[in-house]
Amino acid sequence: MREKIIAGNWKMNKLPNETIAFFEEIIPFISNSKNEIVICVPYTDLFYALLSVQGTKIKIGAQNMHWEEKGAYTGEISPQMLKAIGVEYVIIGHSERRKHFSETDENVNKKIKAAHNVGLIPILCIGETLEDNEAGKTKEILINQIKLDLKDLTNDQIESTIIAYEPIWAIGTGKTATKEYANKTIKWIREELANIYGKESADKVIIQYGGSIKPENSKELFEMPDIDGGLVGGASLKAEEFAKIVNYDK
Ligand code: 13P
Repeated sequence: MREKIIAGNWKMNKLPNETIAFFEEIIPFISNSKNEIVICVPYTDLFYALLSVQGTKIKIGAQNMHWEEKGAYTGEISPQMLKAIGVEYVIIGHSERRKHFSETDENVNKKIKAAHNVGLIPILCIGETLEDNEAGKTKEILINQIKLDLKDLTNDQIESTIIAYEPIWAIGTGKTATKEYANKTIKWIREELANIYGKESADKVIIQYGGSIKPENSKELFEMPDIDGGLVGGASLKAEEFAKIVNYDK
């Protein structure tokens, strides 16, 4: 049985004092959850988040990184830098980075490999636009992203990559995918992984759903057999809401 991993993506939100206050509030409510909990915070909050979760089961992630170890890349952060301070996860290829910062599949692939090289767990985001969805191209788009973003990974690497299926039309819109749709699409993703890496490896990959997850819909989504947890945006900013999502099974 795959575990459920419930991750928060704060995007560009929260100052250090707000980060500390968030963890103070949430820790008592989620410390005995059996689900894996990851919170991906802005670079400037990483240090405060890491200190705040010491001695708890909460893991901290970043939201992006460069693929090189070091060098003349002004403004960038390397995988080694994240690893050195105790970060364990990193979101790669979020649709907002693809849209606003011209993140390409080629760069996403380099970042996924670079993350594995230092032992960071990448959370790869893939998903279709509304236009693609309405044109019936969802499966084709996802297969293409899987092929390019996960190109030439070893079986060990694929097994420890998390995939977040985030339909772009569901992100920040309040329009959550139905549990049936999300489950069916995640099944397609796993089938494609099986085509490339074999069923045994594909069955080990954690595939989350992301897009307007709220306390009201988290239980029905996470109880679906193919949905291995979620990547939560807006609702991860409020300790009370995120705690309810993490505790969907209580
Ligand atoms: P929302 O939960 O705000 O829709 O965001 C989803 C997301 O982009 C998580 O990475």
